[in-house]
Amino acid sequence: MSKKIFAANWKLNKTPEESREFVIQFKNQIFQNTNFFENREVIIFPQAYSLEALSSLCAGTQIGFGPQNVYCESSGAFTGENSAEVSKLLKSEFTLVGHSERREIFKETDDLINKKLQLLQKLELTPVFCIGETLSQREAGQTMKVCLDQMSKGLAGLNKARRLIVAYEPVWAIGTGKVATLDQVKEVHQALYQYLNENSYSDFQLLYGGSVKPENANELLSVAHVDGFLIGGASLKVDSFLKICLS
Ligand code: PGA
Repeated sequence: MSKKIFAANWKLNKTPEESREFVIQFKNQIFQNTNFFENREVIIFPQAYSLEALSSLCAGTQIGFGPQNVYCESSGAFTGENSAEVSKLLKSEFTLVGHSERREIFKETDDLINKKLQLLQKLELTPVFCIGETLSQREAGQTMKVCLDQMSKGLAGLNKARRLIVAYEPVWAIGTGKVATLDQVKEVHQALYQYLNENSYSDFQLLYGGSVKPENANELLSVAHVDGFLIGGASLKVDSFLKICLS
């Protein structure tokens, strides 16, 4: 059985010092639990300024980390962007790609997201690739079409044998406290699983994201093809993040 993945998306929160404190506290809390990582994988996505702090604190632990966004080129005249290659130098192994806030606020297109995914594969970094429908798309009955479209466009031309983590995050459930129902999660995860399977992806995991909390984590984890979570608000405090990891 593969490990459950608990990924923290801190968004534009926490100073490097606060990030450091979080990881120190988290490590202290799991220290007693010697088999914590036997069936769990933990990944933290801090803001870019905190990557260096996490790089030294996570070294030699099983806590993974990475940036929330990188550009599709490693270097050059791209003012304000983050380099995936530099994140790799900092020993990060993961990157968030295509989060709905990047798509909506920063107008990232499927094509740009695809280029970023191509670069990550070249650098042997594992993406946590986010997809999901808006409320109006769901109400118009377009959920499956939107999700599968984002998948096929984002993944075009990628090597299917490489590790891929997909996070299904209904946009209307992000930061709203409105979690998707178990049936809604089940329906989309089943379709994503089938898509990846039929298209010969051999190493993938599917996360759910959107208002995951300690109170709903257990039941969401019981849904077929939910291999873990991408957690925003509830990942900011050690206590609630740990409770979710232990669910
Ligand atoms: P949330 O955010 O858990 O606060 O809803 C999830 C995300 O944006 O990844």
